Amino acid sequence: MKAEDIKKIAVIGAGDMGHGIAEVALLAGYKVAMQDIEQKFVDRGLTRIKESLDKLVEKQKVTAENREAMLGNIETFTDVAECASDADLAIEAVPEIMDLKKKVFQTLDGAAPGHAILASNTSNMSITDIALATRRPEQVVGMHFFNPAVLMKLVEVIKGDKTGEATMQTTYDLALKMNKVPVRIEKDSIGFAYNRVNAPTQVLLSLMVERGHVTPEQIDARMRKIGMPMGPYELMDYVGLDVAYHGARYFSERLSRDYEPPGWLKAKIDAGELGKKTGRGIFDWSKGRPEIDLSKAKEDFDPAVLIAVQVNEATKLLEEGVVNSADEIDKAMASGGGSGVGPFQMARGIGYDKLAAICENLAHEFGVKVFEPTATLKKGKI
Ligand code: 3HC
Repeated sequence: MKAEDIKKIAVIGAGDMGHGIAEVALLAGYKVAMQDIEQKFVDRGLTRIKESLDKLVEKQKVTAENREAMLGNIETFTDVAECASDADLAIEAVPEIMDLKKKVFQTLDGAAPGHAILASNTSNMSITDIALATRRPEQVVGMHFFNPAVLMKLVEVIKGDKTGEATMQTTYDLALKMNKVPVRIEKDSIGFAYNRVNAPTQVLLSLMVERGHVTPEQIDARMRKIGMPMGPYELMDYVGLDVAYHGARYFSERLSRDYEPPGWLKAKIDAGELGKKTGRGIFDWSKGRPEIDLSKAKEDFDPAVLIAVQVNEATKLLEEGVVNSADEIDKAMASGGGSGVGPFQMARGIGYDKLAAICENLAHEFGVKVFEPTATLKKGKI
């Protein structure tokens, strides 16, 4: 099947990501079927799509007629099988729990037409493992959007061990039709590109907070002052501390124990403080976006430490053949978040030797193997 043959897209899950992906598909002119387990979740997803479309109408990016036409193109369901029964492509966006994803894929495989591609929006998890739940692993692929899906440009297109080239190409072309920036992930690897490159920064920031070197507000204020639209802690709240926690556990089980979720994060999960979605996380969201006091910025915090661990992790993706080039990694990192610039671009300005030395020091100071500089970073010819 080619991307031109896709007419109807099913989205499983109407939460933060699911409703956003459904909206992206509507904006690109597709018919959409959106499902969640209870009517109230489906209704909430639909309301959020309407609110977002209203913003786009306000900004004259979408006409009022177009908005109505799009809302006429979406159907909602509480049953996965019904939702996918005549879809050409289904995108799963349910919580990051492997057994749950497998159950959804098994149902999709039984219900969706034989030609349909089954895609997962998982942030970190193995596409190969998810595909095992189906009898069409060559048509199972990762299609990873970024939050908020309507604004963030990146879509990682992830090849599981059995994903066919035709499936990869169709999914890549579909992302282009959705006005996104697709990046091919050639090898099924934990966290793919964007989340993998960012993962060591979470480890470092958590260690710095735990040891009392900094507070989340001091870091966020500093990063905002140098141009980031959101500091790393506010972003964690925005995406959801549950997502961060499940991600860290998965990284810890599959990649390195260095990624074990910190105690404070587990405490937040146990207290039901998941960030924006519950009104409280690291910050208070009860009155909307938290006010970060920029005067609290820790001016002697050098953001080069974050760039160092990012670029070091990015070199591992090159060494492991997960992404084909440094430029593709930069494209992913510049399009997935709000920074607009990739780690290799920044590294060239700072110097690979300086960044390798920073990684060496961090690995020693914190006793964290993940920070140790790779041979590629030390060589520096990237
Ligand atoms: N629909 C339509 N428009 C929206 C919108 C939505 N859902 N959300 C925000 N906007 C618009 C606003 O109306 C506003 O428009 P204007 O500039 O014309 O007034 C504009 O976007 C900016 O929004 P805000 O003024 O509310 O706030 P910001 O300027 O801070 O922008 C943000 C919000 C776009 C989220 C920005 O803070 C940002 O880029 N943050 C970083 C996001 C990021 O890094 N995402 C990646 C997370 S990692 C991930 O998703 C991976 C996963 O696997 C976990």
